[in-house]
Amino acid sequence: RSIARKTSTTGAYLTRRGFASESAPDRKVAILGAAGGIGQPLSLLMKLNPLVSQLSLYDIAGTPGVAADVSHINTRSQVSGFAGDEQLRQALEGADVVIIPAGVPRKPGMTRDDLFNINAGIVKSLCTAIAKYCPHALVNMISNPVNSTVPIAAEVFKKAGTYDEKRLFGVTTLDVVRAKTFYAGKAKVNVADVIVPVVGGHAGITILPLFSQATPKANLGDEEIEALTKRTQDGGTEVVEAKAGKGSATLSMAYAGAIFADACLKGLNGVPDVVECSFVQSTVTDLPFFASKVRLGKNGVEEVLGLGPLSDFEKQGLEALKPELKSSIEKGIKFANDN
Ligand code: NAD
Ligand code: LMR
Repeated sequence: RSIARKTSTTGAYLTRRGFASESAPDRKVAILGAAGGIGQPLSLLMKLNPLVSQLSLYDIAGTPGVAADVSHINTRSQVSGFAGDEQLRQALEGADVVIIPAGVPRKPGMTRDDLFNINAGIVKSLCTAIAKYCPHALVNMISNPVNSTVPIAAEVFKKAGTYDEKRLFGVTTLDVVRAKTFYAGKAKVNVADVIVPVVGGHAGITILPLFSQATPKANLGDEEIEALTKRTQDGGTEVVEAKAGKGSATLSMAYAGAIFADACLKGLNGVPDVVECSFVQSTVTDLPFFASKVRLGKNGVEEVLGLGPLSDFEKQGLEALKPELKSSIEKGIKFANDN
């Protein structure tokens, strides 16, 4: 059975049973931060993905237990757990895709940028190891603040001489997942049919959902679009407040991360027309990194797609987000070069 079935942006494997994987090429996926709130359910979802042949679960501690647990699931991949610096090399060697949900999450009252001081160093050291042990892997950066951690990763790879802009992705899929859910609820359309691009970055007003391009079309008024936009931008904070000090989105993020990694694997495997939004090196605006629709292929980014027609409200949102996004990008670059 061919693996070249048409992709779906909704991670069809999550609901499909009995998918034959014999013809899919071997693919190793490493998850760094695999024992955490996102890492554990993401490990589960990647274990369910028939495109994965080896699943490597790494954290500073706790991964042997997660790996033993997940490994009993009767799906294709062989699972290994690795803990601590001395096992990072083994965790990474041969990886085709590395997913990074390592780092601290927000508590109520914090911005994503408040995580910078701790997470920047974590991301820097993990990316230094990626450059050494699996320089050709596609890197899916989940750790916040994504608007800064992706530029940090790029600088680390540049210094190591391994940077390939086609292989570095900030995971913004959760913004798309939220925009789809909230739009479907308001527009009263089937959520499974909804497509909405979300562009910009991954923090507050830098998250810009393009509801003017949403399908199926619905006649929503300006106020409804503004409310949907705000809810999408504040989606992470909604979860942080509801969890009241116990962290941020983990389950919906694991779902979103699994969809994005699945898209990367499909691209690597040559499935055509795999398109997801992601925060990547970009010339779509005057900013060096920007989230927009990206076509994925055998080398990672095949094409960064443009923004398409924007409403006046979206044009204003685009101009408003640029200064914050620019300064978050510059902060990441400066950190990587100063430390
Ligand atoms: P968590 O604290 O539950 O888990 C983080 C894990 O990272 C822990 O198991 C910890 O041991 C591990 N870790 C820390 N330093 C490490 C290192 N050097 N190497 C390997 N592992 C290390 O946090 P969480 O809720 O899973 O969130 C993780 C990160 O993801 C946070 O920064 C959060 O803000 C971010 N996040 C991003 C998105 C997004 O849309 N991109 C969504 C939700 C959360
Ligand atoms: C999210 O969007 O849920 C994540 O970025 C976590 C957060 O801090 O909001």
